[in-house]
Amino acid sequence: MTMTDSTTKGTAPQAVKPAAGAKDYYGNDITVRFDLARCLHVGVCVRSIPAVFDTKRRPWVLPDAGEADQIAQVVRRCPSGALHYEFTDPARGVEQGHSPVTVRTAEGEPLWLEGDILIANDGEELPETRAALCRCGSTANRPFCDASGPCTQWRHHAH
Ligand code: SF4
Ligand code: FES
Repeated sequence: MTMTDSTTKGTAPQAVKPAAGAKDYYGNDITVRFDLARCLHVGVCVRSIPAVFDTKRRPWVLPDAGEADQIAQVVRRCPSGALHYEFTDPARGVEQGHSPVTVRTAEGEPLWLEGDILIANDGEELPETRAALCRCGSTANRPFCDASGPCTQWRHHAH
């Protein structure tokens, strides 16, 4: 599937550091940020709330088509970290990564990280809560897996 929407208008959220190429989808109660380069098409989002996440529609994310807390809950289950969110009302909180960090590994899969992560890469530090790191070295989006290496079988696993 492809997801190539234009950026929606509005004010950029502050809590999540914008990634180059990431796009924001603004709703009344929640903003959803999507980084296509990190999406590994696990499909948690589209299976969980198809009214909000629908890759056959443009824009493919409609934050006002669902309840903000439910959208945030689904975004937090995106294992690659392609999705992030920010509530319009800061009192509703921000995503917190747990500690210690969980690292999941399996043959033919990237390294799945979840927790309070700080990714150091080429002199830059990126705070994160979820990430799929390349471990084969073939990715064009280092340090993240881009599914170009021997890691395609994980798509058939549940996450
Ligand atoms: S859950 Fe995340 S990685 Fe999976 S399809 Fe949705 S945005 Fe992409
Ligand atoms: S592990 Fe997926 S591109 Fe390297």
